[in-house]
Amino acid sequence: MRVEVHDVTYSVPGRQLFSRLTHTFAGTATVAIMGPSGSGKSTLLGLVSGQLTPQSGLVRICADGDGQLKPLIPAWIFQSSPLLSQRTALDNAMTASLMAGHDPEESRLRAREALHCLGLGELRVARVSGLSGGERQRVAVARAITARSSLILADEPTASLDPDARRKVIEALKHASELGALTLIATHDPWVAQQCDDRFWIEEGQLVGDEKRRLG
Ligand SMILES: Nc1ncnc2c1ncn2[C@@H]1O[C@H](COP(=O)(O)OP(=O)(O)OP(=O)(O)O)[C@@H](O)[C@H]1O
Ligand SMILES: [Mg+2]
Repeated sequence: MRVEVHDVTYSVPGRQLFSRLTHTFAGTATVAIMGPSGSGKSTLLGLVSGQLTPQSGLVRICADGDGQLKPLIPAWIFQSSPLLSQRTALDNAMTASLMAGHDPEESRLRAREALHCLGLGELRVARVSGLSGGERQRVAVARAITARSSLILADEPTASLDPDARRKVIEALKHASELGALTLIATHDPWVAQQCDDRFWIEEGQLVGDEKRRLG
C-alpha cells in the first residue's frame, strides 16, 4: 500500500494549511500524525481519503509494487464517528465489512472478535444509544478493523478513552496493520504516537519526521 501526496496545496479561508506538501506513506504500518489543534491533522486525513480535494497537486493511493491506481475505500474512525444508534454494537461493527462486500457470517465473526478485543464482548448486543462515549468510540474502531481495508484513517481514535481502553484500541489498530493495513492515526497523545511504527508532525504546512525534528 502506498499513499502518495504529491505537491499538495490546501487552504481554508484566510489560511494555507499545506504548501506544496509531498510525502509518501508506504507499507503496512501504524503512522502517527501529530501537531497542535488546528494544524491540519484531520484535513490531511480528509485529503488522503479523497473527501477533500487539494487546490493543487494530487493524492494517489496505489497497490503495492505495481504502481497501479487501485479503487479502495478507506476505513474511517472519525473524531466523532457516526453510528446507527438504534442498532446493536455488533450490527454497527459489521456494517463497513458488509458494505465492502465481505461474507455476512465472516463479517459477524470478525466483528464479534474485534468487539471482544476492545473490551466490548458483553456489550455487543446492547443498542448504541445506551453506550457511553468511550464505548461508542470503540464500536467505531471495531467497525473500521472489521472492514479489513488496506487503509485505515483514524482521527483521534483514543480521545475519550481511559488508559486500559486506549491500550486496547492501539493494540487492535496495530493488529490490523500486522494483517496488512496502512493505518494513519491523527493524535495529540504522545503515548499513542510512541506505540506507532512511525511519527510525523505537521509544522508550517509540511510533515516533519522524528529524525529531522531531533536534528532541528
Ligand atoms: N471547511 C472549513 N472552513 C474553514 N476553516 C476550516 C475548514 N476546515 C478546517 N478549517 C480550519 O483548518 C484548520 C485545520 O483544521 P483541522 O481540523 O485539520 O485541524 P486538526 O489538526 O485536526 O485540529 P484538532 O487537533 O483540533 O482536531 C483549523 O484552523 C480549522 O478551523
Ligand atoms: Mg482534528
